[in-house]
Amino acid sequence: MQRRDFLTIAAAGVTAASLNLPAIGRANASDLYRLKAGKATANLIGDGTGSKNCWLYNASCPGPLLRRRKGEMLNVAVTNDLSTPTTVHWHGIRNINEMDGVAHLTQPPIEPGETFLYEVPLTESGTYWYHAHTMSWEQVARGLYGPLIIDDDDDPAVNHDFTLMIDDWRLDQDGQIDDASFGSLHDWSHAGRFGNWLTVNGTSDPAVSAKPGARLRLRLISAANARIFKIKIDGAVATLIAEDGAVCRAEQIEVVTLAPGQRADLIIDMDGDSIILQDVSTGTPYPAGRIIADPNLGQAEISKTPINLAAPPPIADLTAVKVIDVHMQGGAMGNLTEAIFNGDKLPLGTLAREHKKLWAFNGIVGDYSQTLAEIQLGQVVALDVFNDTAWPHAMHLHGHHFWVLVDDPTAGAPSGRRDTWLIAAGSRARLVFVADNPGLWLFHCHMLEHAASGMGMVLAVS
Ligand code: C2O
Ligand code: CU
Repeated sequence: MQRRDFLTIAAAGVTAASLNLPAIGRANASDLYRLKAGKATANLIGDGTGSKNCWLYNASCPGPLLRRRKGEMLNVAVTNDLSTPTTVHWHGIRNINEMDGVAHLTQPPIEPGETFLYEVPLTESGTYWYHAHTMSWEQVARGLYGPLIIDDDDDPAVNHDFTLMIDDWRLDQDGQIDDASFGSLHDWSHAGRFGNWLTVNGTSDPAVSAKPGARLRLRLISAANARIFKIKIDGAVATLIAEDGAVCRAEQIEVVTLAPGQRADLIIDMDGDSIILQDVSTGTPYPAGRIIADPNLGQAEISKTPINLAAPPPIADLTAVKVIDVHMQGGAMGNLTEAIFNGDKLPLGTLAREHKKLWAFNGIVGDYSQTLAEIQLGQVVALDVFNDTAWPHAMHLHGHHFWVLVDDPTAGAPSGRRDTWLIAAGSRARLVFVADNPGLWLFHCHMLEHAASGMGMVLAVS
């Protein structure tokens, strides 16, 4: 993404907007949220052009902030106002299986006109998100996603708690979502669908005001289909406190890498006049938001004591670990020549042309009816993933969080557990988890085009 690519659509006139997310009231006296998935217009460019072919929840971009406390239920009635089936997945939540939102695996799709009630127990706090999980390569790209925050009594005290959902959209010259390129075989066989227009909370380079001297919590969420963001924070020291919702060892950082689906929580003390966020993933910094000290808001009243968080849990005992090999192959410039699809061994060219399948796990084209492994409830499992392709992949596990072990010390294994982990081309990672949640759980690439074309299978835990 070159800066000029971002700027081909609208060269000027991008106005600053509030970072505050739209909130919806819970229905009277009950704890029910209502989401309606439908066609809507979003002001992505910010000049009033209006991208008319978006699909949004409650006509809001991103979808409404859903916010509950740990230990509560998240109850959401989802109505499908689209002309195509949909479902909602609560990304990163260690959900009960029948509420996981994977069409044809954990529930039937929500047909047009229907409503489905999701009842999700919230056993952990942190920063999560929800998104469509039916044809997600198109539905998420059109805007069907929103933030989900779960508060905890132990959350560090802050003056401001800001959520920033980052996305790149592929817009045409009229500022509309580029319909024609959905399903492009080139995207599916390469890095996925990249956009040419960056938004944070549905707008470009938003600005928000904070109290001078404030302590902030910043929750970054990537809703991109495929792009790997690198968000640089200038103007203050940022301390990373959680990744993918889970606590990590507190660490000062300047740049946060966010692969599709990943989140990062930061604590920032506002000592200067402003904090500048930029995406530096292309080498050319691109504005991603500003936080401006505003004396009219009054002084910050929180004393900035050292951030003292519980340590992340130590890795599970590996003595009786069940190892599951995942040899990932396929895509352009790869070494996959043939793979098994629906029981037949087919050359990659045929798979691509006739079935739009491009990727395989252990020589088998994945999909959500294929079982990768059967696992006994309670077993400690290691997914030994070898990315034997020419592309990075953001591997996501449903229903569980995993520790990451890597051989390459420069690869920087995380200190806490994750639900999505970026594995560089040609490298390996060992994803370790305790299979303590019964059900059929997807393990797939969160580059959504890859997931659709073979890079995903099911782990059956019982
Ligand atoms: Cu966030 Cu299976 O997805
Ligand atoms: Cu991938």
